[in-house]
Amino acid sequence: MRNVKISPSILSADLGNLAGDLEKISNADFIHIDVMDGHFTPNLTFGPEVVRVAKRVSNVPLDVHMMVSNPEESIDWYADAGADLITVHYEAATHLHRIVSRLHDKGVQAGVVLNPATPVCLLESIIDDLDMVLLMSVNPGFGGQKYIEATYAKLRELTALCKRHGVDPMIEVDGGVGMGNIEQIVAAGANVLVAGSAVFGSQDPAQAVFDLREAGTR
Ligand code: DX5
Ligand code: ZN
Repeated sequence: MRNVKISPSILSADLGNLAGDLEKISNADFIHIDVMDGHFTPNLTFGPEVVRVAKRVSNVPLDVHMMVSNPEESIDWYADAGADLITVHYEAATHLHRIVSRLHDKGVQAGVVLNPATPVCLLESIIDDLDMVLLMSVNPGFGGQKYIEATYAKLRELTALCKRHGVDPMIEVDGGVGMGNIEQIVAAGANVLVAGSAVFGSQDPAQAVFDLREAGTR
């Protein structure tokens, strides 16, 4: 049976009651924290303090998605605030290998994110060192967007690349994931699914996490 992990994005949570919303998803595998800097992304969100709060109120591992320019300047803030896993964008990082090594030295898992228009083949020289690859299935910036269908082909390509290298990083998909497509996304090779609106837009977020995991595992 497939092992599918669900990482609810707090971008769609009620920030006025973040602790309460995090408690509702204590059955999740990760908490996805979307860090946006208003420069790499046309939106501005969370600083390290939010990571610190999430660490304090929840036992679920923190999956910090850094949508920022020059991530080498700020990864330490998020690592020190309690991130368990940090992903940085290929498009934003000049010294990707140095960032991955730095995170590993600090005991944090490291991943690379590709935007929808960035090809999988660019990972060739870094794939052996990664704990995760995150494929964006929407253009980063906002929750509630529509899943980009071309992500399926990228997932298959990524699976083949990993196989060729004999490595098995987690493969995460972020954007527009829901009950209607999760099974197909997992079948194409993903095993960690981010879900913002599909979880926090639901009446019962814990049930939504459970249902998504079930549907993905089917
Ligand atoms: C988009 C963010 C996503 C977003 C997903 O830039 O990286 O994590 O919150 O939201 P949904 O699941 O609503 O598409
Ligand atoms: Zn994200």
